[in-house]
Amino acid sequence: MNAFTYRKNNLYAEGVAVSRLAETYGTPLYIYSRNHFREQYRVLSKAMAGARPLICYSVKANSNAAVVKTFLDENAGLDIVSGGELFRALRVGADPSKIVFAGVGKTRDEIEYAIRENILFFTVESEPEAARISECAKKLRRKARIAFRVNPDVDPRTHKYISTGKKENKFGLDAERMVKACEWAGSLPNIEIAGLHMHIGSQILSVQPFCHALEKLTNICTSLKKRFPAFRYLDIGGGIGIRYRPDQPELTPELYAKTLVPLIKKTGLSIVMEPGRFLVGNGGILVCRVQYIKDNPFKKFVVVDAGMNDLIRPSLYDAHHEVLAVTRNSGTIRGDLVGPICESGDFIAKDRNLPVVKENDLLAVQSAGAYGFVMSSNYNSRPRAAEVMVDGTRSTLVRKRETMKDIVSGEIITAKQTGIRSRIGRK
Ligand SMILES: Cc1ncc(COP(=O)(O)O)c(C=O)c1O
Repeated sequence: MNAFTYRKNNLYAEGVAVSRLAETYGTPLYIYSRNHFREQYRVLSKAMAGARPLICYSVKANSNAAVVKTFLDENAGLDIVSGGELFRALRVGADPSKIVFAGVGKTRDEIEYAIRENILFFTVESEPEAARISECAKKLRRKARIAFRVNPDVDPRTHKYISTGKKENKFGLDAERMVKACEWAGSLPNIEIAGLHMHIGSQILSVQPFCHALEKLTNICTSLKKRFPAFRYLDIGGGIGIRYRPDQPELTPELYAKTLVPLIKKTGLSIVMEPGRFLVGNGGILVCRVQYIKDNPFKKFVVVDAGMNDLIRPSLYDAHHEVLAVTRNSGTIRGDLVGPICESGDFIAKDRNLPVVKENDLLAVQSAGAYGFVMSSNYNSRPRAAEVMVDGTRSTLVRKRETMKDIVSGEIITAKQTGIRSRIGRK
C-alpha cells in the first residue's frame, strides 16, 4: 500500500492533506500511516503463515507509543534492545511473554528489570553476558531463558554499518563455538537454553544471505534440541529490506517466505521474527519547509528546516530518500537538499533532480518511517520534530514538538552559576 499519494496535485497521507497537517502542526513534521503499518504486518504474517511465527516488531525502528500500539493491536510481540524500550513496551500494555531482548551490552539493571518482568527470552551475544544473566537470575531467585545469537559469517550485501552477521562484526558467537557455549551456559544455575537467534543485518534485498545463514543454524539446532529439553525457539531476526527508490528491486514477503519456510519448518521449532524497517519504513514521511534557495558558481542548494538532527540516514549511511513536492509541479532542478545544521554532512539529498520549489514551499521526504525520528537529536540545540499518525481521514498528534525549554530541561545550573540571570521568563 502506498499511503502517500497525490489528489489533484496535492500530496495526501491516506485521506488527509499533508499541507493541512503542516499548517496545523508546523514543520519539520513526521507523518505516519497506520493503515500502511497494519497492512505490512498482515502481508508478512500471511506470507509466513506456514511457519506460524511470533512476529516481534523491532521497537528500535520506530518507538513512538502509537506505532508500537498499532502492532500490539495486531497481536505482535516486541523485539527490544534496552531497558528504555522495555519501559516503553510495558507502558503501552505489551505482554512480557511476547518480548525478546537483544543487544551486546545489556547492563545488570536492564537484565534484572527484564527478568522481573518475565520476558520470553534474552538473545545472548557472549559467554560473559550469559554468566551475568545467570547471576542476576540467581539474585532474583528466578530462571532466565536465553537464546544465543549465532554470527553465521555471511555477507548480507548491505551497508557496512548495518551488516551484523559477518565475523568482523561485534554481534553473536561464531557457529563453530555454539554447541560448546550452550553446554557451558546450560550448566550455569538459573539459566535455561531456550533457543537460537540470528540477525544478519538490515535493508537486505536478496533472500540468499538469509538462506545461507539459516542453513548454518539448522544443523546446530538439531544437536541442541537433543541436548536441552527446553530448547524450542528459533529466532530468525529482522532485516527484510524495503524500496527506497522507485526502481529498486524488492524482496517480497512471498519470496522470503517461499524460500525460508521449508527450511525453518524442518527444525520443528517455534519461530520468532524481528522485523522493523519492513513494517514501518515506507509508512512515514518527513515534511519540511523551504527556507532559502541559494546557489554558488557550482551548485544550487535548497535549504529546508529539517536537518541531519531530524533524519540522519543520508549523512550516516549515504541513504537515498525520494523527495516530493507537497504541491506537485512538473519541473525539476538539479542540486542539493540541505538542512540548517553547521556541517557539510548535513544533507537530505545530494546532486539530485529535486522538485522546483520556492521559499516557504513544502517538501516531503519519503520512506522516513524507520530509523527516522528515533535517531533524531538536539544537535545545534534544535528541538525535535512533532509526530502525527493518520488513520483514514483522521489525524492524531502522537508526539508534541519539543520546545526550547524541553531541550534544556535536564540541565542543572549549579550554585556557582546562580549569578546568571535567566531571561527566559521575561519573553
Ligand atoms: C537484533 C535485531 N533484530 C531486529 C532488527 C530489525 O532490523 P530491520 O529493521 O532491518 O528489520 C535489528 C536492527 O538492527 C536488530 O539489531
